[in-house]
Amino acid sequence: MIYIGTAMLLLIMALNSCTKDDSPVAAYYEANGLLIPAGFPIPAIPEGNEITRERVELGRRLFFDKALSRDFSTSCASCHLPTHAFSDTVAISPGVEGRLGFRNSPPLLNVAYFSSFMEEGGVASLEQQVLAPIQDHNEFDFNILLIADRMKQDSSYVNSSLAAYDREPDPYVITRAIACYERTLIGGQSDYDRYTSQQQLSAMSDAAIRGMELFNSRELACSNCHSGFLFTDESFRNTGLYEAYADSGRARLTYLPSDRGLFKVPSLRNVTLTAPYMHNGGFPSLESVIDHYASGGFEHENKDPLIQGFSLSESQKQDLLAFLAALEHQEL
Ligand code: HEC
Ligand code: HEC
Repeated sequence: MIYIGTAMLLLIMALNSCTKDDSPVAAYYEANGLLIPAGFPIPAIPEGNEITRERVELGRRLFFDKALSRDFSTSCASCHLPTHAFSDTVAISPGVEGRLGFRNSPPLLNVAYFSSFMEEGGVASLEQQVLAPIQDHNEFDFNILLIADRMKQDSSYVNSSLAAYDREPDPYVITRAIACYERTLIGGQSDYDRYTSQQQLSAMSDAAIRGMELFNSRELACSNCHSGFLFTDESFRNTGLYEAYADSGRARLTYLPSDRGLFKVPSLRNVTLTAPYMHNGGFPSLESVIDHYASGGFEHENKDPLIQGFSLSESQKQDLLAFLAALEHQEL
């Protein structure tokens, strides 16, 4: 219940800021047809990396450029597909030489709003996050200084870099430009948004409305963790996926036994586009995710007390699926 209160408050604050805000951030979004959706706050932008058209364009080019990887085989977009809310369609995405990591590629749509990144939450900013795939043996297996060298051999990159940050390509420019681009990936035009923030009461089907009630119900408890305008409270929880987790989740960062098997609560926006699911892509479909929650999961010393199991009729399950589908972003 507390979470629903917070969500409402956020919504009201956001609606206010939407109509009144004339900050440079809002102005940038507006000037580029990227209106911040009703119900969404203005993203926080770190000092020194204000959004400008030159920076976003440079970041976009880098995001899609395979020259960021050692062997020119992989770009950020190889694993974060624009057609899938910037996630991937396979459980584990291949990096250079087809090497596989151990986690599922998360969607990047609305990543501007997160306060920590990666499953264990160990990365504090989008700028910092850019270094992870570059150095990762299973992703780009490369070195950011060598990426800057490659860019310097291309005069259009040098010119864009000077225009964006008034300096030649270097790690400062690469990390900031990509982060700037990622902050423009905002999606809040779903049937759910039209229904709640824009009061178009026909935007959601009756089935989806019944599904929303189930989602918010005490028995299913989904909205206790998947709360707020992004449907995540950004906490770390153990959902009882395994008796013994191969990936220890948040404990990789904290080394605390009580953090074993805890993962960041993911946003459920666009979840119909981001299969397969969970940190390792272990569930192929939303049906299988719901079956997991209904079963109450496996016993684990850290399993969250909210994961208790419940029973749903087939038509209630379809309602819940209809609600999740109503969270899909649609360009208007
Ligand atoms: C080989 C596939 C692959 C490539 C290439 C890749 N990523 Fe990722 N990305 C992932 C995976 C897997 C994760 C989850 C990692 C984790 O939690 O440990 C991730 C996580 C992220 C996150 C954190 C999202 C969140 O919700 O916490 C961001 C941001 C991100 N990637 C951006 C990028 C950018 C920018 C690039 C290019 C510079 C890139 N990725 C390249 C697979 C990839
Ligand atoms: C105790 C907090 C909690 C509750 C309650 C909860 N979830 Fe989750 N949910 C999570 C966490 C944490 C994950 C990620 C787990 C992982 O990756 O191992 C997750 C993952 C998911 C995913 C997969 C998303 C993706 O992109 O991989 C879906 C879908 C989902 N939950 C829907 C629901 C629904 C529907 C309910 C109610 C029946 C629910 N959740 C209840 C915490 C919770």
